[in-house]
Amino acid sequence: MSKAANHILQHEVDKRRTFAIISHPDAGKTTLTEKLLLFGGAIRLAGTVKARKASKHATSDWMEIEKQRGISVTSSVMQFDYLGHRVNILDTPGHQDFSEDTYRTLTAADSAVMLIDVAKGVEAQTIKLFQVCAKRGIPIFTFINKLDREGQSPFDLMEELENVLGIRSVPMNWPIGTGRDLCGVYDRMKNQVELFQGDDHSTIKVQKVDGYKDPIIREMAGEYLHDQLCQELELLDVAGDPFDMEKVQRGELTPIFFGSAINNFGVQTFLENFLELAPKPEPRSSTAGEIEPTNEKFSGYVFKIQANMNPAHRDRIAFLRIVSGKFERGMSVKHNRVGKEIKLSQPQQFLAQDRDIVEEAYAGDIIGLFDPGIFRIGDSLSQGSEVIFDELPTFSPEIFAKVTVKNALKHKQYQKGIDQLTEEGTIQVFNTVSFDETILGVVGQLQFEVFEYRMKGEYGVDVQLQRMPYQFARWIVDENLDPSKFRINSTLVKDKKGNYVVLFENEYAMRTAIDKNPTAKFLETAP
Ligand code: G4P
Repeated sequence: MSKAANHILQHEVDKRRTFAIISHPDAGKTTLTEKLLLFGGAIRLAGTVKARKASKHATSDWMEIEKQRGISVTSSVMQFDYLGHRVNILDTPGHQDFSEDTYRTLTAADSAVMLIDVAKGVEAQTIKLFQVCAKRGIPIFTFINKLDREGQSPFDLMEELENVLGIRSVPMNWPIGTGRDLCGVYDRMKNQVELFQGDDHSTIKVQKVDGYKDPIIREMAGEYLHDQLCQELELLDVAGDPFDMEKVQRGELTPIFFGSAINNFGVQTFLENFLELAPKPEPRSSTAGEIEPTNEKFSGYVFKIQANMNPAHRDRIAFLRIVSGKFERGMSVKHNRVGKEIKLSQPQQFLAQDRDIVEEAYAGDIIGLFDPGIFRIGDSLSQGSEVIFDELPTFSPEIFAKVTVKNALKHKQYQKGIDQLTEEGTIQVFNTVSFDETILGVVGQLQFEVFEYRMKGEYGVDVQLQRMPYQFARWIVDENLDPSKFRINSTLVKDKKGNYVVLFENEYAMRTAIDKNPTAKFLETAP
């Protein structure tokens, strides 16, 4: 590779930031995403993303389920440029019926923005998504939203992050007043205050100050709020964690930003700080060792497969995260699982749901590949020598149902459907050891609905799902496995690779089994 080409590659990698926003529904993810897109010039009008959310695919031809339920089944990718950075936001479904896809999408992100409602604090879905990010050890940045409303005190929220999520935090800015009294934030890193102005809080004034004790703040915010600010920041200086970039990079410390997405307050400084602190694409491990993003050979892996984006064509889109090199439209790459060269001719990039053909892309970018049924989740593509990236994690299902075919003559189509939908990661399939029953496991109820709908629509098979009382699945590794042990409030099944899995009805049953089988290992995901 020439020196100039190498230089370009390095530059392209350095400027990329690929992240996901994780939050509980209603925390303001759509609102924040929209403001970020506005800054990046990716949309021109406020309300564009919101309108899409509201009209819910009136213009889209996605699955009927999405229309009926008014939610997005899938995650999309949004890209824009801002201050020399190329930003990729991986969207994750915000509805509580999220699925394994949501989790898998997080494996393609280099960092995460955790969005929290100032009044509600850490909520259920945030915890789950946080845990997936924490397992990967990626940096997590926190945006506390809706500061214009009454909420919990910043100190209480920091304590909650530590108690519930086990992560220490370092506030990058601090509110001056809260709720109706909110008049601005003090930026601890830049030594400046950002003030709300006007009754509608619409204009924002930025003022450089000489530390938080600067009398200018007193003049602007009044005596009472300034005294309060000084007391709180003194406490934070003494008792709080200092900013430590290495801890942030290891995911042990989360920088916190306070703001109000709807008022566009604190969003721009958040974005600018975040882009500076967030990591560029990192190397990924593979059978060929660590693959550097600046490696001149293109490589990437499929983390998500989306079916039926265009029902007229029954096509699928495979979402590929580029790990290294430069992608060029029409290039030939090795599809390592099947050992064949394939041509990437119609790659797509996404802004919300509008798709554009992409001509070139680099490490950190996500491209959508037209998939006539040749890709599976976790597939690696590479130029030149074979590179196979580490397998994507599977996630422990939490909801289970026994599946039967209504018409026995349709068994062949049924099997085909089950196989394909398992490959896409829509469902996980288990078979009971004693009777040959099939049990499906999913993370969110919606996955069952998608399964039923697609079995009928695409394979012509009516299925019946009967919910089972299990809540936990644990892969069991035990030299002397005794199936008779797993009868009370649990059942022993096999996954599609033949690994033994125990399904438990409740945590008590699971704990008891773990205690009674000290030599066995109980794993949350397949070994
Ligand atoms: P989500 O994608 O995380 O589900 O949240 P979304 O952005 O849709 O926001 C949920 C609700 O919270 C919306 O109100 C939105 O306007 C409001 N919101 C977002 N950011 C802020 C903020 O900084 N301050 C305040 N006070 N509210 C905020 P809604 O009534 O459900 O919808 P809408 O009628 O406003 O569209």
